[in-house]
Amino acid sequence: MTDAPVLQLTGVTQQYGEGATSVSALSGVDLTVQRGELVAIMGASGSGKSTLLSIAGGLQKPTTGEVIVEGTYLSTASARQLAQLRRRSLGFVFQDFNLIPTLTALENVTLPLELDGFRARVARRAGRDALASVGLEDKLAAYPDDLSGGQQQRVAIARAVVGGRRLILADEPTGALDSVTGEAVMKMIRSRVDQGAAGILVTHEARHAAWADRIVFLRDGRIVDQSRRDGAETLLAGTP
Ligand SMILES: Nc1ncnc2c1ncn2[C@@H]1O[C@H](COP(=O)(O)OP(=O)(O)OP(=O)(O)O)[C@@H](O)[C@H]1O
Ligand SMILES: [Mg+2]
Repeated sequence: MTDAPVLQLTGVTQQYGEGATSVSALSGVDLTVQRGELVAIMGASGSGKSTLLSIAGGLQKPTTGEVIVEGTYLSTASARQLAQLRRRSLGFVFQDFNLIPTLTALENVTLPLELDGFRARVARRAGRDALASVGLEDKLAAYPDDLSGGQQQRVAIARAVVGGRRLILADEPTGALDSVTGEAVMKMIRSRVDQGAAGILVTHEARHAAWADRIVFLRDGRIVDQSRRDGAETLLAGTP
């Protein structure tokens, strides 16, 4: 069981709308992500990257195909199982941080645990650990508005990994950050994955994709190329 992939997509198709106006956002996507593996997804705007992430995280059901997260088949999981999986196993990181402005950094991070029924004290301890792991132990009581963009994104990463979440799904997490801060955020995602999580990173930036073990290229909803790290480096050579 320990060798089971964290995430497996098989034959995933997503169709939006019907008839002449329908859009085929994903077609026949197969993707497996193992523990300790960070996969970057690249592709033009509209190629299906966010759709893939949202399906991988069980936020939306694919039109056809199967999504298996740590052995759970999402198509047959109950609403309760899905909600539990999202709260316990999955962590999302978005471009615009998505922090709740009226909550402190610590409260933002502990919220998912408290929703999951953890005792406040246990949640706070886990929250402090998660924030310490992204170097923000001295910002527990700060509100998002009082933090820099990079610090806010580090809070979002702490929230995505708190309580030992094992699949990090990041949609352009560095998109709103300057390059130095973006690099620091990438380093943090990389280190969480090295500690035993799995991650998918959507990015437009070759230098951020270079942190991944593998790069998957999407075009019009299809995987057109998958490069292992060595291959990817050759492929990306020459890009700034
Ligand atoms: N809810 C929706 N209803 C209808 N069409 C949608 C919906 N969401 C996405 N699409 C379409 O599906 C395709 C893939 O969209 P998606 O958001 O996954 O692309 P993306 O690769 O993330 O693009 P970007 O780089 O701009 O974020 C696009 O053609 C988009 O217009
Ligand atoms: Mg997108």
